[in-house]
Parts: sequence; structure tokens; C-alpha cells
Amino acid sequence: MAEESFSLPAFAKINLNLRVLGKRGDGFHEICTVFQTVSLCDRLTFSGGDGIRLTCSDANVPTDESNLIVRAANLLREKFNIGPGARIHLEKRIPSPGGLGGGSSDGAVALAGLARLWHLPLRLSDLIPLGRILGSDVPFFFFGGTALGTGRGTEVFPLDDVVENHLLIVTPGVDVPTPQAFRLLGAPHLTNKDSKSILQICRFEARALNLRQSDLVNDFEKAVFQIEPEIGRVRERLFRLGARRALMSGSGASVFAVFDSKEKLQDAFDDLQNEPDWRKFRVKTVPRRDYLGSLNLIEGLLH
Ligand code: C5P
Repeated sequence: MAEESFSLPAFAKINLNLRVLGKRGDGFHEICTVFQTVSLCDRLTFSGGDGIRLTCSDANVPTDESNLIVRAANLLREKFNIGPGARIHLEKRIPSPGGLGGGSSDGAVALAGLARLWHLPLRLSDLIPLGRILGSDVPFFFFGGTALGTGRGTEVFPLDDVVENHLLIVTPGVDVPTPQAFRLLGAPHLTNKDSKSILQICRFEARALNLRQSDLVNDFEKAVFQIEPEIGRVRERLFRLGARRALMSGSGASVFAVFDSKEKLQDAFDDLQNEPDWRKFRVKTVPRRDYLGSLNLIEGLLH
């Protein structure tokens, strides 16, 4: 029996660590990052229909080809010669752009959801290369939990889940386009010898990462704070409100902070009410098993 309609969550990510190692021959940058899924999520609802029709709760989000959901649908249709179409409604909650992977997560969930809607006999491992075509952050969303990302960010290796229940994400009302953030770094071209040894150190650091003890580093912070000082102000404010750690996620503009208790997190949240232009989200980490379970991906086959 065909399902009439079903919904899936598309969780946000934060980068617990983000090192940019240098520029590659293909114009992308070699990175080493620790991705982490958090409980803030969009929701995608899928149903059958003619052509591909995307609607969104937020009128500011484009619903044309520039949206990764539409690109994911077209990619699957071309690749598998699909006749039927789909209607997809996106309930948008993740600030986008915001360094939280919202568009990438939507794209990954669109691939998984449409494979289910169209009864394509795909495994998770079939979706990862399709995710790579859509964008550098997309493959991570077929793993979830805590994971190391290397290369363009598309080579993903699961790590033990980091568990943290008292996180606050703050997104000020400024946009930082990712290509611009990479340009600002002016990273030198990589030589193979350098990139291999730096990568080894980064991998080692990623495996030993402890959210409460390790120094968390995001190589974008310095350059991005210079062009958007408001993001630096968010980070400062979070530290002053008692955060144990505070770090920009991705290329910004969101900053996440780790608090020691629910009460401290609540106090900080209340204190920030005098910043109406900052969006605030109380979240916790989402472990890999829960993540894959919520997407029906745990058995490997998608339906
Ligand atoms: O892969 P994605 O489409 O998300 O990348 C957006 C842009 O960010 C790229 O066109 C590139 O300018 C930059 N980028 C990069 N190195 C990466 C990832 C992204 O230079 N590892």
C-alpha cells in the first residue's frame, strides 16, 4: 500500500571543532571538523504529486532550484528515471544561512524521504555519494551523532557520541556567505606533505575531543568576527553569562555555548531576551542511534 504522506525531521549540526588546513587544487578547502547533530530541526512532509513542488513555512526561503531539496529531487529523478513527482512541505526552524547545516540537512532528508516515497531500493551507502554532489556538509547527515569530517568535509567517520544536554545556540541577524568566509582566510595552497601531517594531528585531536576540557577551535572566527563584529559580541556575551565553552559554528553566524546546568542555561536564555535580533535555541546533542532511528535509516534500507 502506498503511503499517502509522511514527515521526517531534518536536524541541525554544530561544528565542535573546525580547522581549515589549506586550499586544494579543485578550489575547495581541505578541512578537519567534528560535526555534531543537535535537537533543533526542520520538518519535511512528503506526499505524491505531479512534478516537484516545494512549499515552505518561511516566505524568505527560496523554493526553486536554488533549494537543496529541489536539487535532491531532480538528482534522484534523473538518476533513476522517475516518472512520478512529489509535494514537499518544509517547516523551517533552523536559521539559514547560519552555520548550522540547515539547507544541507534538508537536502539529505529529501534524498532519504523521496527514496522512500518512490520505493527506490536504496541503501544509506547509496545516498552518501549523491549527498556529495549536493554539497560538502550533506553526507554527514547520513551519519548524524558525532563524526569526523575531512577532505571537503564529505569524508565522514563516526566517532563516539558526545552527550551534552545544556546547549544554547544564538544566531544574530547577520549573514556570512560560506565562499566569502573561505576567501577571507586566504589559506595557502596545500602541499601533500604538509596536509598529511596536519590532518593526522587534527584526527588525533578530534578523537580525544572533550567538550568541557578541550580547547575548541574554529579557524573562521578571527576573520569572520572582523567583518561581522556582532558575532564576536554574541560569543563574548555568552561567556559573560557563564558559558563553559562558546564557539562559532561553521562559517557563522550562529554561536553555540555549553552550560554546566539547566538552571545556568535558563538564566542565560532569560538574560538574552533584551537582544530581540538574536535568535536563541535551547538544544541538546542527538546521538547517532536516535538520529538514524528518527529518519528510519537504522536498518540500512530506506523502507
Ligand atoms: O559544498 P558547498 O556547496 O556547501 O560549498 C559552498 C562553497 O563553500 C564552495 O563553493 C566553496 O567556495 C566553499 N567551500 C570550500 N571548501 C570546502 C567547502 C566549501 O572552499 N571544504
